[in-house]
Amino acid sequence: MKKIIVTIDGYSSCGKSTLARQLASELGYTFIDSGAMYRAITLYFLRNHINWKDKKKAETALQNISLGFVFNNSTGKSDIYLNDENVEALIRDMLVSESVSDVSTIKEVRDFAVAQQRKMGKQKGIVMDGRDIGTTVFPKAELKIFMIADTAIRVERRYKELFAKDPNITIEEVINNLAMRDYIDSNREVSPLRKAEDAIVLDNSKLTMEEQLKIALKWVKEKV
Ligand code: C5P
Repeated sequence: MKKIIVTIDGYSSCGKSTLARQLASELGYTFIDSGAMYRAITLYFLRNHINWKDKKKAETALQNISLGFVFNNSTGKSDIYLNDENVEALIRDMLVSESVSDVSTIKEVRDFAVAQQRKMGKQKGIVMDGRDIGTTVFPKAELKIFMIADTAIRVERRYKELFAKDPNITIEEVINNLAMRDYIDSNREVSPLRKAEDAIVLDNSKLTMEEQLKIALKWVKEKV
């Protein structure tokens, strides 16, 4: 069967990564969480006190960043590595979430991430989720999914996920963070979050994980 590229874009906490991971596993494809790349870059900038608004400083810092994904046998998921350090848990922190959308507006940062993402898709057989995957990274992808979900449901999902790690988190923090990231992601100059014209909308507000997977698998079968 021919291998294709599947892109999954959408607003924050719509469940893109969950679907992308399950779809990749069913198809024997590679799953790439492009958001993890922007988060790891943000972590590097924060740790090293890089003023990312300063183009030159951002560019120089990027030269010292190497990113990679390594499969973790104990979780059954891929972890992201920043300069050979597993930063999978650290990048989900609120501190990173608060700055990642601002860092992601920087053209140099996007060029750096997009070049690596395109390399990962050279052999096809990948499912990549993010904000600009169907519009900018792989505009010729065979299947493009644009995921949406009710805001209340997105907040609830994200709150549960974060509360498990940090019981001090408040629902207001989660609401504000999602609203801020959606706003910045949709309004930035470079590759703003948009539904690609040829993307299919998947509203998973009322779908179980099994149901959304079944729908996506049907769409893949129509393309291969
Ligand atoms: O997917 P996730 O929510 O982890 O992404 C974190 C942030 O990274 C997003 O809010 C967005 O600002 C940025 N991002 C992006 N382009 C992508 C993926 C993520 O700008 N392709």
